[in-house]
Amino acid sequence: MTSVCVQVPAKLNLQLAVGPPRTDGYHDLVTVFHAVSLFDQVTVEPAGRDGVTVTGEGADRVPADQDNLALRAIAALRASLRDRGADPGRVHVTIAKRIPVAAGLAGGSADAAAALLACNELWAAGLTQQQLCAIGATVGSDVAFALLGGTAVGRGRGEQLTPALAPATRYHWVLAFAEGQLSTPAVYQALDRLRQSRSADHARSAEVRAAAGPGLDAALMSALRSGDAAWLGQRLSNDLQPAAVSLFPALRKTLTAGLELGALGALVAGSGPTCVFLAANAERALELAVSLSGAGVCRSVARVSGPVPGAAVVSAG
Ligand code: C5P
Repeated sequence: MTSVCVQVPAKLNLQLAVGPPRTDGYHDLVTVFHAVSLFDQVTVEPAGRDGVTVTGEGADRVPADQDNLALRAIAALRASLRDRGADPGRVHVTIAKRIPVAAGLAGGSADAAAALLACNELWAAGLTQQQLCAIGATVGSDVAFALLGGTAVGRGRGEQLTPALAPATRYHWVLAFAEGQLSTPAVYQALDRLRQSRSADHARSAEVRAAAGPGLDAALMSALRSGDAAWLGQRLSNDLQPAAVSLFPALRKTLTAGLELGALGALVAGSGPTCVFLAANAERALELAVSLSGAGVCRSVARVSGPVPGAAVVSAG
């Protein structure tokens, strides 16, 4: 085989409930992941040494060395295959980006997931999706979901996944990309600071909630099962949102504008700064996208729908 090309989706978090910081620096989560139709394409081909070329949206901000998440995932896969007695070769990775970088849409994790699937195919390694997910989880918390796709509940760091049983409803979303990025660790740290600085009463009730751990929103899951977009719009939630807005105050205006323009719900995507709006149908999404871009409250907009499948091979030859 001379090359394998994989398409991989961005993710939204329809719920993101964050517990207190753990000793390893991560936070326990309960999240509802939702894969949407904004895709990066990752191509791998045999080469003399590992390398990466990145093109497209925000390419200049993606590391093109061993820090690149796709290369780190490939190194982890190769180490795992060597443990099994195989000797996979070196590869060049070409990443065509459409998922913006550091935007809360897990673009880096998506590229890592795509690289794992592509190399599994290129090397005819035969690892299962579950095995690839386990390797991916060592590289980033969202890699396993990018392999799985659809709608799924994530626990732990987000890597322990349970597919959500939902009817074949298609949801229509408008993404508002921001002028600038947010660092995921900085947003988690800002949340910890916000929680610490709350009044004693708030702190006590937050402590009680934290002791119970973050919980799945049963009403959100019912809304998903019913396929009722208006209900789903009311249940969208993200514990990281106040932290993201505190670091990027312009997001408040973007969120308000989307709701005033008729979105069924609005929230910050993951750690931000992308804002996400749910529309009643494809036509409403188009209207909302046009109005939002005219309102001057974001860098650009995209219309996407979900759920879509996870990373998938689009060509191999
Ligand atoms: O796993 P990933 O590399 O995507 O995480 C990036 C950073 O986000 C982590 O280093 C950590 O600071 C923060 N994070 C967290 N809790 C999670 C996931 C990520 O604190 N469950």
